[in-house]
Amino acid sequence: MKVTVSRKAQFNAAHRLYNPNWSFEKNDEVFGKCNNPNYHGHNYQLIVSVKGTIDPETGYVIDMKDLKALIKEHVEDVFDHRNLNLDTEDFKELNPTAENIAVVIWNKLRPHLKSELELKVVLYETERNFVEFEG
Ligand code: NI
Repeated sequence: MKVTVSRKAQFNAAHRLYNPNWSFEKNDEVFGKCNNPNYHGHNYQLIVSVKGTIDPETGYVIDMKDLKALIKEHVEDVFDHRNLNLDTEDFKELNPTAENIAVVIWNKLRPHLKSELELKVVLYETERNFVEFEG
């Protein structure tokens, strides 16, 4: 029997979506306002879910304190109030779309969880637009 536990978090960050190999016109066509050269911000909402069996001694799949601390250290402290393109190593070469941010977050958290636990990341860029990645 497996149970999923989830923790919500959020961070505010700026980004610009563009492909440096394309002309400004092509970037404008594909990314529209998200290609604004002076960046724009989002209030990203994150849901991190961990699925596994319940530890009979604790009754937990994972201690929420530990999950909270992992998200703070590896996501919030790295991305909150940052310009993703300019201030983070992760997006120096990688376009900071919601898809890519979700994958980066998953990769940051995965090594810190026991291998038998499954990890899923859901990232809302706006209230209506969100992406999911589970490895
Ligand atoms: Ni955007």
